[in-house]
Amino acid sequence: MIEDIIKIAKEAGEIVRNGFGKNLEIEFKTNESNLVTQIDKKSEAFITDFIQKKFPGHGVLGEEGASIKATSDYTWVVDPLDGTTNFAHGVPIFSVSIGVQKNGENVAGVIYDVMRDEAYSAELGGGAFCNNKKISVSQNEMMQRSLLVTGFPYDIADNPNNALDIFVQLVKVARGMRRLGSAALDMCYVAKGVFDGFWEVHLHPWDICAGMLIIKEAGGRTTDFKGAKMDIFNRQILSTNGKIHNQMLDIIDKCTTKK
Ligand code: IPD
Ligand code: CA
Ligand code: CA
Repeated sequence: MIEDIIKIAKEAGEIVRNGFGKNLEIEFKTNESNLVTQIDKKSEAFITDFIQKKFPGHGVLGEEGASIKATSDYTWVVDPLDGTTNFAHGVPIFSVSIGVQKNGENVAGVIYDVMRDEAYSAELGGGAFCNNKKISVSQNEMMQRSLLVTGFPYDIADNPNNALDIFVQLVKVARGMRRLGSAALDMCYVAKGVFDGFWEVHLHPWDICAGMLIIKEAGGRTTDFKGAKMDIFNRQILSTNGKIHNQMLDIIDKCTTKK
């Protein structure tokens, strides 16, 4: 199955690449920060059509409305274009993210970095790869030597879950903090050992389904903000190399439990 997922992610990526820098039909979703273009929709329709033809009975949950109930054990969780704000503004950092769950467990995931032509992939128990080369998380144990990454949800003005307080505290103790604009790619960079940790609030299943498995298979750890196991529907995520996880949890905990 993984070869099929890589193939379809790359083909959807080609649709996205061909649309980059062209005339976009931009619509707003919940507010003027939350965009969708005709390319997001085209990519999702293409992926959904492929799944229905090749894997009839598999369910689909897609960001742009794809919702097919499974009549088998499998459901595909699809972000057809992760990083739409970058895409719409001409920043060449965006991806296609496809995760597959079997009875609610992440069993396969592919994230395709469209402009760098890099396909990150993982199957449960089989390790994590970038263009078929094995990848693993960093070995760094010190917050002061950590490069972290985060993103801001479209409702950041409401500061959900003290997101800005957490940002302020972490940016003070880490070596550096980045904001790439594609949560799926943020997670690939943790899996690859480029970043030591990633956290964000108010993400959706399609943002994290593939990334969670890729990080797990690369030797990393993902929990909610209390250190508990989480599923793709959780609205708080902390993914790290495992070594700085508890240190990040301590800082996050201070921000979320203070008055
Ligand atoms: C967004 C990106 C971004 C994150 C946002 C997401 P989208 O996804 O992953 O990095 O900070 O919270 O919603 O809307 O471009 O698919
Ligand atoms: Ca997304
Ligand atoms: Ca998206």
